[in-house]
Amino acid sequence: MKVTVVGQGYVGLPIAVCAAEAGYVVKGFDIDEKKIKNLKNGITDSPEVSSDKILQLQSEGKINFSSNILEHADSSIFIIAVPTPLDGNHKPDLKYLKKACELIAKVVKPNDLIINESTCYIGTLRDLVKPIIYNLSGLGDIDYAVAPERIDPGNETWSVYNTPRVIAGLTDQATRRAVDFYSDFCSAIKSVSKPEVAEAAKLLENTFRQVNIGLINEFSAIASKFNFSAHEAIIAAATKPFGFMPFYPSIGVGGHCIPVDPSYLAFSAESVGIEAKFINLANLTNSSMPKIIAERIRILLDGNLSGKKIQIAGIAYKPNISDIRESPALDLINELKLLGASVSWHDPVIAKYDNEQSSELNANVNLGLIITPHDQIDFSIWKDSRVKVLDLSANSKNYGWPKFL
Ligand SMILES: NC(=O)c1ccc[n+]([C@@H]2O[C@H](COP(=O)([O-])OP(=O)(O)OC[C@H]3O[C@@H](n4cnc5c(N)ncnc54)[C@H](O)[C@@H]3O)[C@@H](O)[C@H]2O)c1
Repeated sequence: MKVTVVGQGYVGLPIAVCAAEAGYVVKGFDIDEKKIKNLKNGITDSPEVSSDKILQLQSEGKINFSSNILEHADSSIFIIAVPTPLDGNHKPDLKYLKKACELIAKVVKPNDLIINESTCYIGTLRDLVKPIIYNLSGLGDIDYAVAPERIDPGNETWSVYNTPRVIAGLTDQATRRAVDFYSDFCSAIKSVSKPEVAEAAKLLENTFRQVNIGLINEFSAIASKFNFSAHEAIIAAATKPFGFMPFYPSIGVGGHCIPVDPSYLAFSAESVGIEAKFINLANLTNSSMPKIIAERIRILLDGNLSGKKIQIAGIAYKPNISDIRESPALDLINELKLLGASVSWHDPVIAKYDNEQSSELNANVNLGLIITPHDQIDFSIWKDSRVKVLDLSANSKNYGWPKFL
């Protein structure tokens, strides 16, 4: 059975590899020709898939990559894994998903199965994916399902293989076929009654995180005014063996999920006349953090950042990942610069950002800020030179300096 995975990014490539290892003949499709060329040469920045694995699967004929959709006409399963960002007004931007559907419509055949893994608002499969493909292909006998991706790139415990997969089709047959497909490489499946439930469950998961991170960031502001460590209080609260789940303060949220998905749920809410108060407040609380933190740093450095040298350790949105999408570290850099600071950054997994190179961690600074502590970062120069350092990282690990948030 041949499978095309549309979109070869953080989500699509691991799925393509899992399906290939499970025995499917997989074709990775992407509109980005450079990415396809790189994949043919085994080049990827996915933390889930090694270069050797890509080369091995290609040499065994289990996977191949192409940016020409017409070369995918013999596939009978199409998995969609394309970006679903927000537009300038903070509303869902489904242009990539629409384009993916238009391309699939060129090659889809009767009885094919189309599965959307991209995060989207409630009702997208029924009201957008199916109508586009049906109207362009004229085919009514196609199965449609959703199986929202939950992957956490770089997570060494939970992968595509063992993270339970929530699935629903527009028909019982579509659900059955999608469940059969994922059962070949995923150890736990939860099928639900209709696609809207699966779409909403995905949005709820990340909205839950956004709201709790917003709450804990507010708690951190309270703790700082009362002059105690929010971390110490959270760790104390987490000793309760039931009814509490620890979240840790941060300079905000980043990546393609938590800053984005709650706005898809808010959009769904607003489309049925409900004001998403919690979601909007959490979005605002977390997106305001870089400005609030910059101001706290200004006060700490004698009320004036003009001419002060600040170095940031880690600008990616989370440790050990080379992804800077929506990273709040970038906003913090801007806010500190607006207050007059001279800001440099060190990030061993991001070589270049905004025409600036990563600089070596150095002692010639007024302040060091730990934001995204990649395993590769060696803090000894700051320690040995007794640099003033604030630990703003969201994890509970201690780097030798007290937590600032
Ligand atoms: N990154 C994550 O941690 C994560 C986790 C769970 C779910 N998701 C969701 O999965 C989806 C994909 O996210 P991602 O992180 O893999 O994005 P990504 O940007 O890493 O990869 C998407 C790929 O799709 C390609 N693409 C865009 N339009 C296309 C089209 N019309 N046809 C073919 N290819 C196209 C892009 O060139 C890119 O290579 C999003 O909806 C995202 O919200 C992401």
